[in-house]
Amino acid sequence: MNALSHTSKPDAARLALDVERVRVDFPILHQQVHGCPLAFLDNAASAQRPRQVTEAISHYYHHDHANVHRGVHTLSHRATDAYEGAREKVRGFINAASTSEIVFTRGTTESINLVAATLGQSVRPGDEILITHLEHHSNIVPWKLLCERTGAVLRVAPIDADGAVRLDELQQMIGPRTRLVAVAHVSNALGTVNPVKRIVEWAHAADVPVLLDGAQATLHAAVDVRELDCEFYAFSGHKMCGPTGIGVLYGKQHWLEKLPPWQGGGEMILSVSFAETVYNKLPYKFEAGTPNIAGAIGLGAAIDYLSEIGLANIAAYESRLLGYMTDRLAAIDGLRLIGTAEVKAGVQSFVIDGIHPHDLGTVLDHKGVAIRTGHHCAMPVMEFFGVAGTARASLAFYNTQSEIDQLIDALQVAREILS
Ligand SMILES: Cc1ncc(COP(=O)(O)O)c(C=O)c1O
Repeated sequence: MNALSHTSKPDAARLALDVERVRVDFPILHQQVHGCPLAFLDNAASAQRPRQVTEAISHYYHHDHANVHRGVHTLSHRATDAYEGAREKVRGFINAASTSEIVFTRGTTESINLVAATLGQSVRPGDEILITHLEHHSNIVPWKLLCERTGAVLRVAPIDADGAVRLDELQQMIGPRTRLVAVAHVSNALGTVNPVKRIVEWAHAADVPVLLDGAQATLHAAVDVRELDCEFYAFSGHKMCGPTGIGVLYGKQHWLEKLPPWQGGGEMILSVSFAETVYNKLPYKFEAGTPNIAGAIGLGAAIDYLSEIGLANIAAYESRLLGYMTDRLAAIDGLRLIGTAEVKAGVQSFVIDGIHPHDLGTVLDHKGVAIRTGHHCAMPVMEFFGVAGTARASLAFYNTQSEIDQLIDALQVAREILS
């Protein structure tokens, strides 16, 4: 049961999240910007970190830091235990079968590039990679580069006026030349939640693997990679209250085993001579060089934090908040909602007649409201809706109804000043 589900709605009455209690954990939220209380509604770009995450990182640096895996001394053992402990937390968080399937990367972008670079080695001219029109550039450009390198063809499933993928067309585009379907779990520009389990089933019926871009999913509801049955799942620490510079590529073990190594260096080998290299077992085969140890530990702490609140509670709370925000935005004269799909998570894009989104964002900032304006690294989406950019308010579980009221009041002021 979660907000990303197309089959069940959370039972809001049974779930509870004490937002004022939660906000105590986020020192950054308690400040004034231009003399107004900060209303941080830019969570899709990067979420904030609770004290528990920054404390876990400081603790590591103050007590346990050493390089991992190779040392015999106590600090190296402690650092290794903490790093591998974080991998186990990630495994549990997405319900992967084994820690061998959890590769630490710099983030979603690097995870997708890893798959594009390695899978790409067996892609032939005329093969097809299937994505959708609502992808973030991170799930477009690596595939375009792959196509340029290999002569493969990038195919793009269209979206409709609500910003939902046209599923009938997507299903028909999966064919004998499809080598991979790569789809966002949740769109960052539109908030659309794709019915990824169904997409995986269609792809599997044609024996095609699926990569899911989970950058916008993992903060908002429980993700179960075994239930989704996808081959690859990519996500970023900083979008789920963890540190920047750390992310994850989940891959089914037999897929990661058959992919060639990506970057070469220390850690990813068992033995090296000038004649022969024996690569390390999973997941280390894909973790060349000293990893982001503190980042992984911080991500582990973020997972502990989110798990303690409960992803079901988060999903139910955010779903109510999104409903409230969407209704209030829709009531503003001259405001057009962009992204009105039936199943959505945490994001609402919009434009206001005659006002440039950047001007809107600037006036809002002077009222303490942080939103993002521009193309949101999804230029094809902007082109589809005939706009250069949108204003986007994006939620996290620590946002409140009164912050949304602050957004609406600030928008009214902006309209008076700018129209
Ligand atoms: C849907 C989606 N995919 C991929 C990315 C890239 O994430 P990162 O910059 O953390 O690699 C983002 C970032 O906004 C995103 O929203």
